[in-house]
Amino acid sequence: MIQYYEDRQTFHLTTPNTSYVMALADGVWLGHLYYGAKLHDTAGMEQAFRLNEFPFSPAVNERDKVRFMQMFPFEYSFLGTGDYREPCLSVENAHGMTGVELTYRSHEILPGKVVPDGLPHTRGCGECCDTLDVLLEDRVLGLEVHLLYTVYKDLDVIVKSVRVVNRGDEPVVLKRVLSGQLNLEPDRCDVLTLHGSWGRERTITRQSLKTGAVSAESLRGVSSAEDSPFLAILTPNADQTTGEVWGMSLVYSGNFLAKAQIDQIGRLRCVMGIHPENFAWPMTPGEEFQSPEVCLVYSNEGLGKMTRTYHDLYRNHLIEKRWLTQDRPVLVNNWEATMMDFDTDVLIGFAKAAKESGIDMLVMDDGWFGHRDDDTSSLGDWFVNEKKLKGGLKKLVDAVNDMGLKFGIWVEPEMVCEDSELFRAHPDWRFSLPGRKPGALRQQYVLDLTRQEVWDGVYNQIHDTLASANIAYVKWDMNRYLADVGSLEAEPGCQGQLLHRYVLAVYRMQERLLKDFPDLLLENCSSGGARYDAGMLFYSPQIWTSDDTDAIERLSIQEGTALVFPMSTMGAHVSVCPNQQTGREVPFNTRAKVAMAGTFGYEMDVRNMKPEEKAQIPGQVALFRKIHPVVREGDYYRIASFRENHHSDCWMVVTKDRALAYMTYVQVLAAPNRPGVRVRMQGLDPEACYEVSCDYEGSMAAHNGEMSLGPQSSKKLGRLNGDMLMKHGIIVPRVRGDYQALLYEVRKV
Ligand code: GLA
Repeated sequence: MIQYYEDRQTFHLTTPNTSYVMALADGVWLGHLYYGAKLHDTAGMEQAFRLNEFPFSPAVNERDKVRFMQMFPFEYSFLGTGDYREPCLSVENAHGMTGVELTYRSHEILPGKVVPDGLPHTRGCGECCDTLDVLLEDRVLGLEVHLLYTVYKDLDVIVKSVRVVNRGDEPVVLKRVLSGQLNLEPDRCDVLTLHGSWGRERTITRQSLKTGAVSAESLRGVSSAEDSPFLAILTPNADQTTGEVWGMSLVYSGNFLAKAQIDQIGRLRCVMGIHPENFAWPMTPGEEFQSPEVCLVYSNEGLGKMTRTYHDLYRNHLIEKRWLTQDRPVLVNNWEATMMDFDTDVLIGFAKAAKESGIDMLVMDDGWFGHRDDDTSSLGDWFVNEKKLKGGLKKLVDAVNDMGLKFGIWVEPEMVCEDSELFRAHPDWRFSLPGRKPGALRQQYVLDLTRQEVWDGVYNQIHDTLASANIAYVKWDMNRYLADVGSLEAEPGCQGQLLHRYVLAVYRMQERLLKDFPDLLLENCSSGGARYDAGMLFYSPQIWTSDDTDAIERLSIQEGTALVFPMSTMGAHVSVCPNQQTGREVPFNTRAKVAMAGTFGYEMDVRNMKPEEKAQIPGQVALFRKIHPVVREGDYYRIASFRENHHSDCWMVVTKDRALAYMTYVQVLAAPNRPGVRVRMQGLDPEACYEVSCDYEGSMAAHNGEMSLGPQSSKKLGRLNGDMLMKHGIIVPRVRGDYQALLYEVRKV
């Protein structure tokens, strides 16, 4: 609900459990007052502006206006007129001078959402949300700044974005236009970010912030493996179930900045949006700019509740609706098994073996096009290598379909290799800086998709490939970061638009692809999980989480990813051991249980497997089909973290009606003389009775009180009360050996 109190010039935005309050000072300065647990009344809150203290407001004390600008908790901050903290907006006028000052002009409350043109966005109609549009202006520049707040009625979410319009007579340049900010006054706080690198994406990183600033950012052209466009502020006591948490998640896939800064008087300002570095957006009179959205979530029940709110938001209001209830295919992907060394016969062999095991789809990865046998050539040549796919793509796909399997294909549309027909025909289509040879990465270069002819040239090829056969799934890869970003076509003053225009061009291409092939399942990928963000989820309901398929490494990667993103978005496969990235040996059973936390599949040579492992696949596929609806649609609870306790990892998924839950427990490291671990479940109905069973078979006697795990057998622990399971918990037995996984089913009786 959105309320405006005329007498106090106060805005009160409420969701089921939260309040967001801002007000005007002197009738013109929009300041932030509160974001936290729901308030019944906001009367008297303006005192937090401290307008009765020195330096007072400019209306009272013009002499010290700049001191006011330094201190006032601006709702949307701006640079150059006395606020020295991290700003959201910076504008250069026609003479190259920087300075902007935003004051209130009007506001409007609209039903539903204001949909940002060309950008991925959260969705909603008038029944589930309303939008507040506060219009600020800079009278000198003739700039209008619309602060948009979408407030959800059934979710503790506020989505912010900004639309800037040049209503002046002269051009201006936006030097930065961040999506939104958060102002808090915590006594002490922690900052949580998702930090990483290739193979270690989205590792939860938490640090206390006392002075200065902490940031997460990308200048790599994509959201990156190194930092994720997410930041949370936590009270120091916050854990999974208690404490206050404020989350900010950006719906964007390019360069971003997320920064938390403590100011000179101990207050906290967090800003988030497109990174201002390498960004400059000229606007002639009449032009507009729309920022990406930032989704704010507040929880006073710890991180767990924040997570579940983001999951609900992204599943119900971001990802295309059909994927909420649609089963995802269990796939086999040939990448780790064959790399680029495959042909039709190999793939048919994969399909046969996959069919025998109950797998739904074969995905043909990198190496099917141009003359690509290694990574030195052919990106850009999206036509079939007939030496490998004898008789062409349709023949292969038809044969696979005839076996009862769907077919998926890998593409990397944004790239070109020098050794390609595309490059030979259009050497000027890649990004480059005049006079410099662009730097290669994995021997490839980034195409300047901001140019329409380049966009068309690439899209038409991809379109024709997909139209030529019955393709159910596309893995859209992007295997390098951007560098040497210059466009031969863009005007000199417009080069600062390129990085954002590039992201918009990618969005436009994915949107078009889905329009032309409406049944397609799109999975995004970027050297593993380097573009795993809410922007991409608008187009693809699943994203390849990481090239690191080691099940033990995946525990923390998936923990960090699922902190914000729904489990059903995490591409996760069972791969061969010793693992290609780490050399680690992990039991087949454990690899499968960890992959079942996301979308499930196999990334190994299913033709040549150990018979005892192959025999387990049908059971694993059946188990996945059983638990996946709960993973996909239920609530996720993080019970224990190996990252923190150094011995085990544990998570639960619970149906919304709390009738059925699955708990996965991974004993990462065995230890002698350690008693069974007590685990307290979460999310159950305290009044209900549950039948609890676990898929282990015990042979305690043989190993001094440790369990040896048997395959797929089930042991009933009996009927236990939900209240007891959550408060007292159960004892998970000591299991013999490292890397052992148990799955508990908790079913209401
Ligand atoms: C990236 C992906 C892999 C695979 C290769 C192919 O690294 O993350 O899964 O598709 O590219 O080149």
